[in-house]
Amino acid sequence: MSNTQKVKVILWGCGNMGQIMVNYLLQKNVQIIGAIDRNPARVGKDLGDVANLGYKLNIKISSDHEAVLSSSAADLCIVGTRSTMEDVYPQLKAVVNHGINVLTICEKAFYSWNTNPELSNKLNALARKNNCTVTASGIQDIYYVNLAAIIASSTQKIDRIYGLSTYNVDDYGQALAQVHGVGLSEEQFKQDISSDTAPSFGWNAGEALASRLGMTIKSIHEKKVPVYNKQDVYSKTMGTTLGTNQAAGMKSSVFITTYQGTVIEFDTVGKVYEPGEIDVTNWSLEGEPTTTVNISSPATPQLTCATIVNRIPHVLDAPAGFYTIDKLPSPEFHHFISKSL
Ligand SMILES: NC(=O)c1ccc[n+]([C@@H]2O[C@H](COP(=O)([O-])OP(=O)(O)OC[C@H]3O[C@@H](n4cnc5c(N)ncnc54)[C@H](OP(=O)(O)O)[C@@H]3O)[C@@H](O)[C@H]2O)c1
Repeated sequence: MSNTQKVKVILWGCGNMGQIMVNYLLQKNVQIIGAIDRNPARVGKDLGDVANLGYKLNIKISSDHEAVLSSSAADLCIVGTRSTMEDVYPQLKAVVNHGINVLTICEKAFYSWNTNPELSNKLNALARKNNCTVTASGIQDIYYVNLAAIIASSTQKIDRIYGLSTYNVDDYGQALAQVHGVGLSEEQFKQDISSDTAPSFGWNAGEALASRLGMTIKSIHEKKVPVYNKQDVYSKTMGTTLGTNQAAGMKSSVFITTYQGTVIEFDTVGKVYEPGEIDVTNWSLEGEPTTTVNISSPATPQLTCATIVNRIPHVLDAPAGFYTIDKLPSPEFHHFISKSL
């Protein structure tokens, strides 16, 4: 006799990532009980149709989040809508007010204790009051933090950690393209992106890595520069062709020094790819001994969504509050996702 039952999930955000997650959740026996989105092309449609399952799920995508959140007892809501803490906070708050656990792929919520302390602490207090957990995960969880951390566990002394991640902005929606300055002229990029002191995704991930390694940050700096393509490239996400004088995206370089003496440097390059370009994730841990890992062509969107699905049990088991992944157990693979009775 099994003493487990299905995990019930609401999906908030049924775009590129949400659609992959629908498939992955169902394959692992998770019950999707509601779907929320605001995009008129998706609202009112069956989630099975939007996710191209080839069959209906009899779940209508709704723009009325309150109706969906109060309609039945969900264990968890997956929020895949926007990239900044300011943008997702209203959604996280709405879910938490119903006492429902949250897993979000919002990049800036990944480790926002220092970059957005006000909203992070508000969220933490609200989640504790409502006895539920909020966690942000995604590609950063394993490929930016836990991968480097696991290599560190076999290293005697670390002088420098260097990471590089590249990804195609066209795999995602407009929110990601906007924070990467896609389509901007050199002057606009300088004004809107380079001189904006708001940190990029790499900053949050770098801080999470330092925390995971038990290191205390002494200083942190970031440089954001535009990257250009050598030829005109059509962008599916922007719905337009980008000229060679328009930013195809952004390179962010984060530089961290720690009181333990280790330096962490992390470059992320997110751009609309030219034909033939592929994602790359590289880590080099320099010290005694030095170890390098180069991952060619990681399927970043799929890895993001599979990580979210595999993280569900940890979030359900975590203490109430805003619980960032540096405090969660190491990620695990699950054949099926269920919850204990
Ligand atoms: N952490 C990670 O590893 C990771 C990986 C991939 C993506 N992301 C982030 O996850 C987010 C979603 O990515 P995506 O590629 O799936 O984007 P997408 O294709 O644009 O899908 C997002 C969907 O959410 C909807 N939405 C946005 N704000 C909403 C709100 N307040 N209420 C209801 N629906 C809302 C959007 O509607 P509209 O089209 O009307 O805006 C869209 O339909 C982005 O911010 C992206 O940067 C994170």
